[in-house]
Amino acid sequence: MPPLVDIHVHLLAGLDDGPKTPEDAVEMCRRMVEEGIGFAAAGAHQNDEYPDNTPDRLRAAEKELVERLRTAGIPLKTKPSAEIMVGVNTLEQFGRGELLTVGDTGRYVLVEMPHGLCVEMKWLVEEFVERGVRPILGHAERVPEVLHDPGRAEGLIQAGCLFQVSSKSITNPPSPEDGRAIKSWFKRRMVHLLGSDGHSLRRRPPVMKDAYRVVEKWVGAEEAERIGSLTGQAVLEGRPVTVPKPLPATRNWFAWLTG
Ligand SMILES: [Fe+2]
Repeated sequence: MPPLVDIHVHLLAGLDDGPKTPEDAVEMCRRMVEEGIGFAAAGAHQNDEYPDNTPDRLRAAEKELVERLRTAGIPLKTKPSAEIMVGVNTLEQFGRGELLTVGDTGRYVLVEMPHGLCVEMKWLVEEFVERGVRPILGHAERVPEVLHDPGRAEGLIQAGCLFQVSSKSITNPPSPEDGRAIKSWFKRRMVHLLGSDGHSLRRRPPVMKDAYRVVEKWVGAEEAERIGSLTGQAVLEGRPVTVPKPLPATRNWFAWLTG
């Protein structure tokens, strides 16, 4: 297994609904190393619920985490990040420097839809791309209007959006129907990045190994490495990534029946 990259994990203690204490965060990182994760976007939420989470605050918290990992001898490389909830002011906030990019490189933003809502996001993707920034839709599979509408999903990808899928949705999808749609996204090359969306060791552990094995089975070793390791590394280092065009959907009734 290549060193995995977790592009979406909450590791900044006390800043959101992730780890409560620095010790909790360090224990999460220890677990991540056991999971084969070598590099992670250590993030916290940036939304109305956490107005104090300025980029400088997140940067400082990640710096502290790096120091603690060094002291504890945990070989996990991290970079600061944020999970930004899309709102009417997202672009203005970005323009004012109020949003932290993935890895703080200025090249990618991790965004999520407002909870329980699907907003028309294609225009926002286009605006970001015009500014030289590529949005990554966090846990894209959790938005039914995107997961079950291939046209909408393809439109976002075509506009330049990258899709991150969470490991738990791969190993334990909310429904068989969602599971089939997620598998089809992978097979059609519509998933670009993996994330654990880990919040704590108990509630949402930062695990990826089992999900990676499933992805490997679905798409083969080379494609799995691209999704689980190489693209994430490029994103965290602020390098450009090229992703394949979505393959056409197949209407294979036997595959449909057997899942
Ligand atoms: Fe998250």
